[in-house]
Amino acid sequence: MTHSNPLVTFTGVQKTYDGHTLVVRDLNLEIHKGEFLSLLGPSGSGKTTTLMMLAGFESPTAGEISLNGVPITRTPPHKRNFGMVFQNYALFPHMTVADNIAYPLTVRKLGKSDREAKVKRALDMVQMGHMGARFPGQLSGGQQQRVALARALVFDPQLVLMDEPLGALDKQLREHMQIELKALHRRLGVTFV
Ligand SMILES: Nc1ncnc2c1ncn2[C@@H]1O[C@H](COP(=O)(O)OP(=O)(O)OP(=O)(O)O)[C@@H](O)[C@H]1O
Ligand SMILES: [Mg+2]
Repeated sequence: MTHSNPLVTFTGVQKTYDGHTLVVRDLNLEIHKGEFLSLLGPSGSGKTTTLMMLAGFESPTAGEISLNGVPITRTPPHKRNFGMVFQNYALFPHMTVADNIAYPLTVRKLGKSDREAKVKRALDMVQMGHMGARFPGQLSGGQQQRVALARALVFDPQLVLMDEPLGALDKQLREHMQIELKALHRRLGVTFV
């Protein structure tokens, strides 16, 4: 185990949607910089709920989540600066694939040439280099999922949250993306949950 300060800390986190069934009972968890953490558990055990609380789309009903020691329980999702691939966090349908991927860079006010280089790299990484001009509605489910991955990674976030990001891919692509993600993890030291 590492002795550095954790990147993320869950302290006594609890979640109920209906006011009496605890979906997350008492979660105490430290996530360290550079970790590749997988949450495993049966269907309905609270994995997505935990990720949604870390992302900021759901609030814990008790306890605290901290980032670098600072509570973020009341910080809105867009201010947390995480890369995210969620099933319900869809691509923008009115934007091309390339513009979807460029979006996180546009809001961060990167210059055009920087932006184009990063978008190209991200598109190549997910083997979608020839589809930048298409719209999401013109892609298969697996292709959309790869674009979502590229969009989550393109701005080199310190933390990337992924909820079953490879579920719509066939075996060969899934294995390719697993290798890509692990290489990226090694190369950039990004933290994955
Ligand atoms: N918005 C919601 N409102 C009410 N109940 C919810 C809501 N979201 C999830 N739940 C319930 O909370 C529990 C945990 O759900 P969650 O989606 O976190 O599970 P999971 O571990 O991600 O499951 P899976 O492997 O099937 O994706 C389930 O019993 C689910 O029905
Ligand atoms: Mg889930």
